[in-house]
Amino acid sequence: MTAGGVLGSVDALDAAPASADEPAQVRHELDRVGRPPAQTLVVFGASGDLTARKLLPALAALAEHGALPDPFAVVGVARTGWTDDEFRRVAARAGGDGSPAWRQVAERARYVSGDYGHPDTFTALKAVLDDLDRTLGTAGNRVFYLATVPSLFGVVAEALAAHGCNKPGPGGRFARLVVEKPYGQDLDSAVALDEDLHGAFDESSIYRIDHYMGKETVQNLLALRFANAVFEPVWNRRYVDNVQITVAEELGVEHRGGFYERAGALRDIVQNHVMQVLALTLMEPPTVVDAQGIRDEKVKLLRAVVVPDVEDVTGIAVRGQYTAGAVAGETAPGYRQEADVSPESTTETYVAMKLAVDNWRWAGVPVYIRTGKRLPKRATEVALEFHRVPHLAFGQREARELRPNSILVRIQPEEGVCLSFGAKVPGEAFRLRSVGMDFSYARAFPGPTADAYERLLHDVMIGDPTLFIRTDEVEQAWKIVDPLLSAWGQDGSPLSFYPAGSWGPHEADLLLARDLRQWRDP
Ligand code: BG6
Repeated sequence: MTAGGVLGSVDALDAAPASADEPAQVRHELDRVGRPPAQTLVVFGASGDLTARKLLPALAALAEHGALPDPFAVVGVARTGWTDDEFRRVAARAGGDGSPAWRQVAERARYVSGDYGHPDTFTALKAVLDDLDRTLGTAGNRVFYLATVPSLFGVVAEALAAHGCNKPGPGGRFARLVVEKPYGQDLDSAVALDEDLHGAFDESSIYRIDHYMGKETVQNLLALRFANAVFEPVWNRRYVDNVQITVAEELGVEHRGGFYERAGALRDIVQNHVMQVLALTLMEPPTVVDAQGIRDEKVKLLRAVVVPDVEDVTGIAVRGQYTAGAVAGETAPGYRQEADVSPESTTETYVAMKLAVDNWRWAGVPVYIRTGKRLPKRATEVALEFHRVPHLAFGQREARELRPNSILVRIQPEEGVCLSFGAKVPGEAFRLRSVGMDFSYARAFPGPTADAYERLLHDVMIGDPTLFIRTDEVEQAWKIVDPLLSAWGQDGSPLSFYPAGSWGPHEADLLLARDLRQWRDP
């Protein structure tokens, strides 16, 4: 993140608009960051969905912006019996029209087909890596990306170590391991996975990906909070009445029913994406914006989140599942009718929860979080609602349309920040209404920005772990959600239903209504 991350926002100031009407002209931020050192990227799960949809397109985009290492090689590993040429065609296709730079990388990509449990696979991989070092000059530097099913993470790490691939090749400086989510199924399995990985790689060489950390607007939370004198003084319990974090999706489970049945919204979104956004929203200012500074503060904040008792879960959390309905004018089946989903499934596709943060800054401020699939629209946002003024000198009728002041950080789509406050409605009577002062990323910074995977892959290649999740963060996040997993695993634990295209079950509204509050409309 050093050059392209938070500092990317500072870069943009170089080109600050002369007036509000004149947008800043920014180049794609990775255009200026330079090349990482020579290396080979090995993707396990190379014939899978993530590789085709995210990883290869992100690499192609990096190639286009001159931000790939040079020399650089990609090696795909999977069970699928492809040849080098077949993988090369997949790689070239994933780059769309593709720049000449990407075509060159795709043309010399290599592929190793084999079972991850069989030593021959790793002997063959080692031979390919050594060959690339010799013929292409990839310098013994290696990044291993685990885009496989999670049950294979430990198996692959162990096999890499058994073949000496957990160390750089001759003359090399690094061997890094990138791990996709989900990182474990609960606290115990995450700890066990860590033990397996740490048996092969040092913590400093392990890069746990949460793609939300690669989103520009998630990082902008840091800029907003810590680069401005106006927001930080009010960012605490004295001024903030409540915090709401929403991760809403229009999409259902698509073709991932089998995976989702085992995950559910709690493991799929809350334990990782929501906890990361929550930590960045509520943590203390770091002394320095670097890997240790940010991650220390995030983990400190997560430790201050009160871990609920299993018996209390029903009072502070709601789980829901979508039934048939309509989203954006299209009819949508219920979750239980989706492919690879049990017709009696009790997996949650919606979670709402009230959290408390026990520290000086946030004591007494409820933090409401919610996430769901098949909601009316895609919207990820963080809202801070402020206390009302201590004495309203206007009449109740005049202030009918006045909402509490708020700061809304829109993470996606329509990335931006909106400050909402009361204004007088023009006319004779002193009527008040809430209005918004709106900052739009797209208007202020019209240039293209890096996709989350582009940025994160680039950060791995340059060895910047700032945006990756450290082991203590993962464990702390599991500690917070584990009691929900236990409570919801018990027979008879309540599951609410909501029609696809609605804002979730009624019980989620009651969660806030009990506190005399309501969810904001995204
Ligand atoms: C993934 C989840 O981590 O994030 C998906 O597994 C979800 O279920 C996706 O759809 C949402 O990501 P984004 O970037 O579209 O908000």
